[in-house]
Amino acid sequence: MDKLRITGGQRLHGEITVSGAKNAALPILCATLLTADTVTLHNAPELRDIDTTLKLLSQLGVHVERNAESVTIRANELNSLEAPYELVKTMRASILVLGPLLARFGEARVSLPGGCAIGQRPVDQHIKGLEAMGADIHIEHGFVVAKAKRLKGAVIRTDMVTVTGTENLLMAATLAEGETILENAAREPEIVDLAELLIAMGAKISGHGTDRITIQGVERLHGAEHTIMPDRIEAGTFLCAVAATGGDLMLRRACPDTLGATLDKLREAGLHIETGPDWVRGTMYGRPKATGFRTSEYPSFPTDMQAQLMALNTIADGTAMVVETIFENRFMHVQELIRLGAQIEIDGNAAVVTGVSQLLGARVMATDLRASASLVIAGLAAKGDTIIERIYHLDRGYDRMESKLQAVGAQIERLTKEEE
Ligand code: UD1
Repeated sequence: MDKLRITGGQRLHGEITVSGAKNAALPILCATLLTADTVTLHNAPELRDIDTTLKLLSQLGVHVERNAESVTIRANELNSLEAPYELVKTMRASILVLGPLLARFGEARVSLPGGCAIGQRPVDQHIKGLEAMGADIHIEHGFVVAKAKRLKGAVIRTDMVTVTGTENLLMAATLAEGETILENAAREPEIVDLAELLIAMGAKISGHGTDRITIQGVERLHGAEHTIMPDRIEAGTFLCAVAATGGDLMLRRACPDTLGATLDKLREAGLHIETGPDWVRGTMYGRPKATGFRTSEYPSFPTDMQAQLMALNTIADGTAMVVETIFENRFMHVQELIRLGAQIEIDGNAAVVTGVSQLLGARVMATDLRASASLVIAGLAAKGDTIIERIYHLDRGYDRMESKLQAVGAQIERLTKEEE
């Protein structure tokens, strides 16, 4: 298994181009199942979760052609309506094929995801919403088996705000008979990006970006071309990195409008930030200031940035309280940060981080995607060498992270098995 070796202490200087958003690309790829026509997507990031989704689509019988950052997809004839366990267990977002397959083909079988490193993460709200639209759903041999002649519009209020739940129901509703209203809908920018593609495909949607989305079902959707939005979590991760190491980083092809809460917190930590329509520049002098925060649904501070901002707090001046409200068990990075010398105490869903003046490199283990990113940030700031094991987690969601960081002066290299 590959590892990363980071020799900390280098300031970051230069430019990084932000990739397309993983969490927008995943539902968007699944949305191509809603039409028999060709959908062309640009700015698709090169990462493992995208490969997994394309593999899943190919297994269903979809024609997929990938040319660097562009993907052309045609789901005219499928030979299977099943998402197998082997793929779903590596990527929970595979559940996003459920709504589109059911809406267009009247049937779908998707393996139940099961638990994951950051908690239980059930899909009951996806199922409840589709049932409200008239689907007959039961669990059979570990699969969610769903059937419906044609879905019917409904008013659906999910018990909590769920991102992929909103996306699944939004996609399903585009082909349902009549009007669907999604109440308590997630407002994440990735949902807006998905809705924009669906509208380009002929869907009738309003209210996306608010907590009440209205969809008028249509008989069929057609082909479209769409450019995937920039990844706000990747951008936020690089900004945390420069805040931790010091230096001057220009992020190109970024979308500052989607980064509000993250930029606010980084400013509080002492990062000097300038923004333009499609760029963000972060400049850091001196030691960061401790910055407490609480994760919550968009537009509040994202849970997907919690580990990275916590890493910054480990070397900050002062003490910060970090509260995680979205996922239980999302403090797996804490024990690893402590191996680097961080002072963190956990009490339930809160962590108290007391900044130390210097982290010291060590061998650590990545436990999930964003935890891995926090270890990279800590490693860049630490004195000496940090070896991060199990970086396949990082490869799931970051597009060529180590080469982007090398290009701005970080000493970071990938060790393959032979080099250990
Ligand atoms: C998405 C993102 C993930 C991010 C998360 C929260 C994608 C592919 N992934 O994950 O990166 O961390 O949003 O911003 O976009 N829940 C239920 N029942 C359900 C659905 C959700 O109980 O049917 C709970 C979850 O366990 C969790 C909370 O609702 O506690 C929010 O989860 P959700 O928004 O659904 O996360 P994902 O869509 O899986």
